[in-house]
Order: sequence, then C-alpha cells, then structure tokens
Amino acid sequence: MNASFDAPTIIRTKRDGGRLSDAAIDWIIAAYTDGRVAEEQMAALAMAIVFRGMDRAEIARWTAAMIASGRRMDFSDLGLPTVDKHSTGGVGDKITLPLVPVVAACGAAVPQAAGRGLGHTGGTLDKLESIAGFSAELPAARMREQLRDVGAAIFAAGELAPADAKLYALRDVTATVESLPLIASSVMSKKLAEGAGALVLDVKVGSGALLASEQQCRELAHTMVELGAAHGVPTHAFLTDMNRPLGATVGNALEVAEALEVLAGGGPPDVVELTLRLATEMLELAGIGDRDPAETLRDGTAMDRFRRLVAAQGGDLSVPLPIGAHSEVVTAERGGTMGDIDAMAVGLAAWRLGAGRPRPGVAVQAGAGIRIHRRPGQPVAPGEPLFTLYTDTPERFGAALAELDGGYRVGPTSLVSGADLVSGADPVSEAAARPLIIDRIVT
Ligand code: URA
Repeated sequence: MNASFDAPTIIRTKRDGGRLSDAAIDWIIAAYTDGRVAEEQMAALAMAIVFRGMDRAEIARWTAAMIASGRRMDFSDLGLPTVDKHSTGGVGDKITLPLVPVVAACGAAVPQAAGRGLGHTGGTLDKLESIAGFSAELPAARMREQLRDVGAAIFAAGELAPADAKLYALRDVTATVESLPLIASSVMSKKLAEGAGALVLDVKVGSGALLASEQQCRELAHTMVELGAAHGVPTHAFLTDMNRPLGATVGNALEVAEALEVLAGGGPPDVVELTLRLATEMLELAGIGDRDPAETLRDGTAMDRFRRLVAAQGGDLSVPLPIGAHSEVVTAERGGTMGDIDAMAVGLAAWRLGAGRPRPGVAVQAGAGIRIHRRPGQPVAPGEPLFTLYTDTPERFGAALAELDGGYRVGPTSLVSGADLVSGADPVSEAAARPLIIDRIVT
C-alpha cells in the first residue's frame, strides 16, 4: 500500500477540479474500506465528486477498486445461465420482486445483490424485510444451494464490494447520491462482483430519477454498459420513465403486496409491462430468449418461485404484511381528470412518512407509504380519494402532506409542462400517453 497518500490531499485535488490518479483511487477506496479514511473525509470527497465529476477512466478505476475491496463470486459451474438486473432507483419501483421469480421460472438463475433505500427512492431489501422473518443475509454456500434449488436469491451485498456498501449508506445521508460517477461505480461494482453472466440495467429518467436530465441518464447508461463490457459481462440498459411513480403503491410492505398482485396475474399495467420487457431482455442475454415470461404469470410458476425464494430466506408470507397504524386520505377538491403525479413529490412524502431513513442505521417503517387511487388520465369525482398515506407515527403527516402538495393536480390541465399549456396540447392525455420505455442501449 502506498503510504504517501493522504485523504485531505485527495479531497483537495478533486475539490479543485483535478483528476485522481489510479494509485490515489486504489488507496482511498482500500483505506476507506478498512477504516483508515474517516466517514467525514469520504463524505467530503463524495461531495467534491458530485460537483466536479470524474472522467470515464477515473470511473472505471473507482469501480475496479470497489470490486477489489471484497470478493467476487463465480457461478460458472452452476449448470444454469445466470443473469441479473439493476435499477438506478425510482419511486414505487418494485419491479425486482416480480421480475426475479419470472426469470427464474423461465430457467435462468438470478443472483441478485440488492440495496436498501437511497434518498427518496426505495430499496429492494427494505421491501423484502417487511415480510415476517425474511433475511437478506445469505452466506455464500447457501446462496449457491438456493440458486440451484430455487433459481434465485436476493441478498445484501455483504462481502461483495464492501466499499460500495459503506459509501452507499454514507451517500444516502449526505446528499451525495445524485452523481453519475458515484451511481455508475456503485451499481456496477456490486453487480460485477456478484458473478452474474449478463446484466440488464433499468436507468430511470424523469423527476423521480437520481439524475435530472435525460442526457445525463443516457450518459449514465452508456457508461455502465461499457463498464460491463470491459469486465466481460454483456450488459444492456433501458431508459424508462420515472416522472411518475411506478404502479399504485409507494412504501415497503405496500409494494410487496402489489408485487404479489402482479405474480397472481393482475397488478398495475405499467408494473406488468416493465417486468415483462426486462424479463425478455434478461432471457435473451441468458441465451433462453425462446421462453415466454408472461406465461409464468398466467400459470403461477413465477408466484411459486417467489414463495420458494421467500421461504428459503426465512420469510413467512402467511403472516399479514404490516400496514401503518394511522392513515390519512387526500380527497379531490373538485372533479375532472387526474393529471401527472410527480414521482419526486410522492417519493419524498413516503420518505417523510417513515418509508426511508434520515440517518444511517435508522429502521424504516415497513408499513409506511402511499397508495395512489387515481392514475394520470383517470376521471376523478369531487370528494373521491386520491391518495391514502400510512404511518405508525402520525406526527409525520404534516410534513408528508406538504411534500405531496403541488405534486399532482386534478382538472382539465395537469403538471406536464408549461410548454404544453402554451401550445394548447391536451396535457392530461399527453401525460397518460407518455411511453414507459424510452430507449434501449446496448453499446
Ligand atoms: N443503485 C445503486 O446501487 N447505487 C446507486 O448509487 C444508485 C442506485
């Protein structure tokens, strides 16, 4: 280890717009992982990266250093094609929950290292842990067994990319989530370490996404696809709409319940559409593109896989999912049509209700969240419920309602954009018609 490096110099270099050398990146990631660099030093560096960015070579090295901070799994002897997906994070994004069992039911194995909530976006592990008894801690030997028996495992990254695990938790509480280099390296370090043979990425675009502009999201997608290819893992990405929440629920247990509806052959159309599109891509990359993922929702085989996955990880789906002890209903003041629902407003409101964490290590409320009763484009009668908010701590309703206020509108016009209003277009129907899948990026 090169002893000539120190954290303040590295922070200063990035703060002042300089490049970090390969050796400096290797040193800071290793030293942060083993505790020689303090959390506040890494927080300062992360903030400098938010403002100054990194070039592609720095991102590649930062990613490689985070992979090298832990072990790398290898499932090439499993006898099954392996493939995984990762989303850059959205509001109501419960797609992993139905997607993983669908793909497993089609014959691929899915070793999924998943994360907890990040900023205003929810995390797969927080959702699954709302199921009584579910454990995300899976020793490597059991994971291999589970992949053979069930075809899927969803687990905390643990020994995979431990530098990312620390940095991810730090970014969540230091407003340093929204950075292309930090997102790309975070996603790809754990995904490359987990040993899947191919990857599909769901890069969210829109108000509820981690990066503000479609241009930045495209760049993020290309950066991650290249990182995958550079490590010999075929990687495809989709840009998908995150201006509005996915589905009709936001919050941990609420989203598990919605995923169960999808697995039972129902559920909101957008959740079903995205699940099936990502599944099709994963199966093609896994070399079994002839399987029909929709059939697994119809014939119950995907539901069966989900039940087996949950049981294998200690979960008990016969125990009712928790729901916040207190609820507050937002009703329509007037009739009309539901306009756009702003994903960021809903994500922040759910976070305020207790679905996310304000500090590292704070427990999330499994039953906190929001049920959306009217989707964009649907008719609304005066006094009808639009949203139900749930929490165990009712003193949170005020802040949550304040976040939600202005994040939706009922009427002949909506929140789509000022340009629509000026041009005379019908913003309500435009909002309802906006495509969910914006683009597919393969190189
Ligand atoms: N998902 C991750 O794993 N990391 C990020 O930074 C964002 C989304």
